[in-house]
Amino acid sequence: MTKTKVLFVCLGNICRSPMAESIFKKMTSEKGIADYYQINSVATSSEELGNPPHPGAQAEMDRHQLNYNGHYSRPITAADISNADYIITMDESNLADLKQIIPNRDLSKLHLCMDIVPGQKGTSIVDPWYTHRFDKTYQMLNQSLPLWLKKMEKIRKEG
Ligand code: 4NP
Repeated sequence: MTKTKVLFVCLGNICRSPMAESIFKKMTSEKGIADYYQINSVATSSEELGNPPHPGAQAEMDRHQLNYNGHYSRPITAADISNADYIITMDESNLADLKQIIPNRDLSKLHLCMDIVPGQKGTSIVDPWYTHRFDKTYQMLNQSLPLWLKKMEKIRKEG
């Protein structure tokens, strides 16, 4: 079975992208379509290499029954890029960083998470590592990710 491969990316891979990964996994499980998806998250930096999600992200994920067991931060690799179908970044800075390293042939995979929300094009999901607004991160992901899944499901079923 061909899987749709989704890669979430943020700066540290301990706050926003692990939360996105976990929400997306939960959505696909609840819809009974988890087998059709391979979902991962990575960092643009090595700052947090080997670290589990930030305590604030853990608390927010616990509040929403989101599982992050076994998640440890790691930086993006060339293999991640070639393997992915969708590379979904959290903010403009992640997007700019990846544009520097992604081969031209893979640039169409690259997206900004909030771009899919009507009226939110170009909006960054602000880094809760600085703001401590993990609730706001969850709220923005909860708004955008169902729309990404809807789009991916439409494309998967058409293909
Ligand atoms: P994240 O948050 O990109 O949402 O995981 C951050 C985590 C760590 C750092 C920056 C942002 N840091 O500089 O170590």
